[in-house]
Amino acid sequence: MKRSKINDLLRAQPEGQDVTVMGWVRTFRNNQFISLNDGSTINNLQAVVDYTTADEATLKRITTGACLSITGTLVQSPAKGQPVEVKVKALEILGDCDPEKYPLQPKKHSLEFLREIAHLRSRTNTISAVMRVRHAMAYAVHRFFNDRGFYYIHTPIITGSDAEGAGDMFKVTTLNLNNLPKDEAGSINYKEDFFGKETNLTVSGQLEVETYALALSETYTFGPTFRAENSNTTRHLAEFWMIEPEMAFYDIHDNMQLAEDFLKYLCRYALDNCAEDLEFLNKRAQEEELSKPQDQRNELGLVDRLKFVVQNQFQRLTYTEAIDILRNSNPNKKKKFQYLIDQWGADLQSEHERYLVEKHFKKPVILYNYPAAIKAFYMRQNEDGKTVAAMDVLFPGIGEIIGGSQREERYDNLLKRIKELNLPEKDLWWYLELRKYGSAPHSGFGLGFERLIQFVTGMTNIRDVIPFPRYPGNAEF
Ligand code: 4AD
Ligand code: MG
Repeated sequence: MKRSKINDLLRAQPEGQDVTVMGWVRTFRNNQFISLNDGSTINNLQAVVDYTTADEATLKRITTGACLSITGTLVQSPAKGQPVEVKVKALEILGDCDPEKYPLQPKKHSLEFLREIAHLRSRTNTISAVMRVRHAMAYAVHRFFNDRGFYYIHTPIITGSDAEGAGDMFKVTTLNLNNLPKDEAGSINYKEDFFGKETNLTVSGQLEVETYALALSETYTFGPTFRAENSNTTRHLAEFWMIEPEMAFYDIHDNMQLAEDFLKYLCRYALDNCAEDLEFLNKRAQEEELSKPQDQRNELGLVDRLKFVVQNQFQRLTYTEAIDILRNSNPNKKKKFQYLIDQWGADLQSEHERYLVEKHFKKPVILYNYPAAIKAFYMRQNEDGKTVAAMDVLFPGIGEIIGGSQREERYDNLLKRIKELNLPEKDLWWYLELRKYGSAPHSGFGLGFERLIQFVTGMTNIRDVIPFPRYPGNAEF
């Protein structure tokens, strides 16, 4: 089928030419003006039907949501806000849409309602704009790393290890759940399971990508990860995508620099390549801001927030320095924090992270050198015997967007930590062997892709930046 994309027509404006466009009707006014959208851009193309000659039965079938193929001449539009329109010569209904039953009406729907019709919300301006930006960001991720000589490693989705040691995993099994095989001790006998051992969906590709960093030097993985934590927040999904670079010969400072360069590159890419969608999302975010109490409103608009990230150096400070700031902060002294900070070692909650970013420094922050006790087993132990070379990047409105560290490359130190934490040494044998054979200092981090998309699109709920969100109690579609 010869067809033009609406985006190309609106850009090139080949006036006088006959074109064929296909898409979905957004509105049909006065039995004459069709607003058609094919998802190639946020903008609709207006097609004008000559109702005096059009066939009545066909006109009736042009309803919001219907799918049409239109052939006609592209002419200058007398209407404001659009350079060109199509004078319809032939019109075919590809798919009817019953206006009485179609849940998407040409009016504003709440994001909550749209989640219930996730199979149709793709047809809204908001969700389609978000998904175009999401696509652009995925492309930019690969471009960034490819330009720097990093290799994309596809780490497995099904694994036998728990990378974060947090235990919030989804099991993978083909055992009959109504008749589980038992061993002598009465426990489930996983030897009879598909892989002959217990397996789960991965929570992170890090451990596996480390094996390739210690061979190809600069690598990354970008794939779906799964966490069975019961968090019903606007920042957590049970299935989310994570970008995890892993580099040999990088220390924690090199790691922080890469994270900062990476985030700046992605924000710049969005500004340069997603202008129309960002302008639309900016307006919708502004409207949303107005419904918030004045003291909780964002001072900067969406586009300005992106520019701000690109133009400013991130504030780097140690966990210990951050604790001092928080302990002496007004909300701590006035007991406004839900979790008060009274001593070194406390885990930081998102209220603390956001205080540092939004109130104290007013810019993105990288915290590093955290207490070992609140971080994962694989992080490099510092000389002080208390902290590890961990780093978190904190963003306004989001909190933690990146978590990473320099890795413990010393065999004895790593083994000691695994034993202290009672982690299953037998499952980590291969991870330990990396430290036995040609170990190297190395570092990496994980960027939560949906949290990035939240920041770039200004969407407040993470469930609206992934096509089909998975969260407790929801796996429809
Ligand atoms: O801090 P996390 O747990 O770190 C890791 O998984 C490391 N293995 C990464 C590495 O060093 N290679 O997760 C990394 C990021 C977080 O900063 C956050 O942006 C995102 O992943 N994230 C989530 N995003 C959505 N829903 C969830 N449940 C998330 N949990 C973490
Ligand atoms: Mg983390």
